[in-house]
Amino acid sequence: MTRRLSACRALLIGAACLIMLLASHRLAGSASMQRVAGPLLELDHPVPTNHGNWSNNELEQDDSSIAIPFVNRTREIQDVISEQRLLIAQEMEGYNYPDGQHNITAKSLQDLAPESGGQPIRTLVATTWRSGSTFLGDVLNSHPANFYHYEPLLDYEIMQIREEPLASEAVSKLKALLHCNYTGLDRYLTYGQYHIELFAHNTRLWAQCQEHRDLCWSPDFLSPFCRLFPFQSMKVVRLRLKLVEEFLKDPSLNVRVLLLVRDPRGTVQSRKHRVWCPNHPDCAEPALLCSDLVADYSAAVELNAKYPNRFRVVRYEDLSVEPYTGVQDLFDFFGLDFHPSVQQFLDTHTKVDVGGVSSTYRNSKSAPFHWRQDLSHQEVRNIQRVCWPAMERWGYLLAANSTHQHDFNPLGSFSLTLT
Ligand SMILES: *[C@@H]1O[C@H](CO)[C@@H](O)[C@H](O)[C@H]1NC(C)=O
Ligand SMILES: *[C@@H]1O[C@H](CO)[C@@H](O)[C@H](O)[C@H]1NC(C)=O
Ligand SMILES: *[C@@H]1O[C@H](CO)[C@@H](O)[C@H](O)[C@H]1NC(C)=O
Ligand SMILES: *[C@@H]1O[C@H](CO)[C@@H](O)[C@H](O)[C@H]1NC(C)=O
Ligand SMILES: *[C@@H]1O[C@H](CO)[C@@H](O)[C@H](O)[C@H]1NC(C)=O
Repeated sequence: MTRRLSACRALLIGAACLIMLLASHRLAGSASMQRVAGPLLELDHPVPTNHGNWSNNELEQDDSSIAIPFVNRTREIQDVISEQRLLIAQEMEGYNYPDGQHNITAKSLQDLAPESGGQPIRTLVATTWRSGSTFLGDVLNSHPANFYHYEPLLDYEIMQIREEPLASEAVSKLKALLHCNYTGLDRYLTYGQYHIELFAHNTRLWAQCQEHRDLCWSPDFLSPFCRLFPFQSMKVVRLRLKLVEEFLKDPSLNVRVLLLVRDPRGTVQSRKHRVWCPNHPDCAEPALLCSDLVADYSAAVELNAKYPNRFRVVRYEDLSVEPYTGVQDLFDFFGLDFHPSVQQFLDTHTKVDVGGVSSTYRNSKSAPFHWRQDLSHQEVRNIQRVCWPAMERWGYLLAANSTHQHDFNPLGSFSLTLT
């Protein structure tokens, strides 16, 4: 009997050790993968530094106390959801609901939160790598009670999705996320466990993930958690605009879409600083960037005519030169309140230049034009040679020579109505 007990005890200790061993392997694996793969991602925002430091509790647990506490997972999920529901209610105190403005009838949190049958305000920003979307994504996330679906196509790595066979799969995945349905998104969720930037930009989710790491990548937690949020934002840098119509078409989403465009010379210059770019034609070749810009222009003309109230284009440069009025206009378009928290974000992120290339803390007025100094005139000519059709459509002027390049204003005008 005692023998049996001690055998049982040994077995339990063994199992506990195995679990710890596996857990430590996984943490180590995730940390090293992150080092390798981190720069792959459009990670130009300093992510909270304490992530990955999940070395506490069970790893340090004394071996003799094998009492692994029983955690009632259902209860834990319910508790986190209730807590977040309160946090959202706090963030929404005094909120200026649309109540008919911007074509949105919602007058209360209930009208917007999916969990109470509401229709959330959904925003989608479509663009490509290094076009200023990190900044815009963070501006949208500075709005109260926002759930940020940050670049949900990260697991496709460095490629553009332009057509089948990938298009349908990618679109249906994004639709599922916009509906807060995480069931069947196993690849996405597994990827997220090893690439923390997938969730770290979603600050409200990430705060809970740090406390409840066992829940963070599980559909049974994520779906109801996401459904608490009255505002759902998404940015994608890998899906070309033609495919984005699938979202505008879908009345159940009622999404508003913004295409963010940037001068290809600025994009190319910015991508040069990224180690993940060079070996991937979709990122490294100006000709591909610019054929995408031309295709996006054609799609934009069409969407602008078809969905005048739910589709908009903005150039990164225009937004950067006038961040306050620019963001205010965009918030009007999206049906979002230009809340004091947004204003505060702009106050702290558009005026000073700190944090290096990966930061959204910078002087927004000069950031878009660095390429004029950083690229040689020969490099600029090489880009312009393949990009002039895109530049002509989007209203970017050619640099005529080296002197001109250094101090001209590259911004001309563009129009989405064909004359
Ligand atoms: C990890 O977290 C612990 C406690 O949360 C802290 O004391 C320690 O300094 C952290 N280590 C690193 C490397 O951040
Ligand atoms: C876990 O918590 C849920 C909800 O509070 C409760 O219904 C269930 O009975 C609990 N399960 C166990 C095994 O304690
Ligand atoms: C969520 O997605 C899964 C997989 O596509 C589907 O089977 C399920 O019906 C969806 N659930 C809801 C509530 O729409
Ligand atoms: C509001 O929606 C209606 C119908 O969808 C549309 O005709 C109208 O132009 C929209 N107005 C604004 C300001 O978006
Ligand atoms: C450079 O281009 C500008 C603008 O086209 C022109 O006015 C100027 O004369 C050119 N300078 C030289 C050295 O060619």
